[in-house]
Amino acid sequence: MTTVSVIRAAVAAAVRAPSPYNTQPWRFTIRPDAVDLWLDRTRVLPITDPDAHEARIACGAALFTLRLALAIAGHHTTVAILPDRATPDLLATATLDGKHHPSTHHHTLFDAVWRRHTNRRPFLDWPVPTPARTAMARAATQEGADLHLIDHPAPLGTITDLIRRADHVLGQNPDHVAEVSAWLGPDGIPPLAAGRPSTPDSLLVLRDLGSTAGSVAFERRPLLAALTTIGSTPTYDLVAGQALQRVLLEACAAGLAVSPLSQPIEVPSTLSALNTLVGATTHLVLRIGYGHPGVPTPRRPVTDVTTTLP
Ligand SMILES: Cc1cc2nc3c(=O)[nH]c(=O)nc-3n(C[C@H](O)[C@H](O)[C@H](O)COP(=O)(O)O)c2cc1C
Repeated sequence: MTTVSVIRAAVAAAVRAPSPYNTQPWRFTIRPDAVDLWLDRTRVLPITDPDAHEARIACGAALFTLRLALAIAGHHTTVAILPDRATPDLLATATLDGKHHPSTHHHTLFDAVWRRHTNRRPFLDWPVPTPARTAMARAATQEGADLHLIDHPAPLGTITDLIRRADHVLGQNPDHVAEVSAWLGPDGIPPLAAGRPSTPDSLLVLRDLGSTAGSVAFERRPLLAALTTIGSTPTYDLVAGQALQRVLLEACAAGLAVSPLSQPIEVPSTLSALNTLVGATTHLVLRIGYGHPGVPTPRRPVTDVTTTLP
């Protein structure tokens, strides 16, 4: 197999990464011994994500999978984050520069790439055991981020209030609502993956993704987690994105389901309250638990997101 075909196969895995509304805001340039990851500005949400923060998190998640897939194929890679100050949309370059012997754990995480999906269904009221919590928290720190797990009633109540408030503010903005609606469908989130609204007495408010099905009761004692870094520059977005994907794959490998909740990071006042609560820069809130499988969403073909240079 040539290195170009190895990289192309790694990109096919990378595009399974999560992205806001399944926008898939990435492009890849493949060279014989390297691959560049670009932010695709045409797929960044101008109202919801004006500074492309969430899009860079998604690209970071794709970058983690790219690194993992290349490691599984036996390649050591050196990654340069934001390698050219004059070209801020060039997010990273991964250069293949030697051999690598993947560990069993690498294989476990890579297997999860194909099974992982956002699960917006209610979770079971089963506690998440300590070993799985530890593994997810370690996954975040291994990538330079932190995962604050929250299920004690007081901070949980504060976070669920912030989510509710943010969801309300976003719902009052017709431009945001129109922008979201445009991504509900085959190029975005298909109806089957959209989940159902929560009953009014639920602690959690999930995003309204256009479901016309009736409301459903969500878990009474959810486990939420704030994914944080110590800073908020584009580099930290990419750190957070790689940590996000490592946490999600670790969770999937442990049989856990996850759904991201980004409403509180999209409203400045709730983001600032969240940051004060956890004492760091929050990139995303995750809901974690055991549940019945959700529905995977499709991706654009790899040929649509790659350019191969001689
Ligand atoms: C930065 C970011 C923010 C997200 N925010 C939400 C959200 O608020 N609510 C939600 O249901 N899903 C959210 N998602 C999940 C995406 O909608 C999901 O990744 C995408 O539709 C692809 O589906 P998949 O994760 O099942 O592969 C988010 C994902 C990312 C990366």
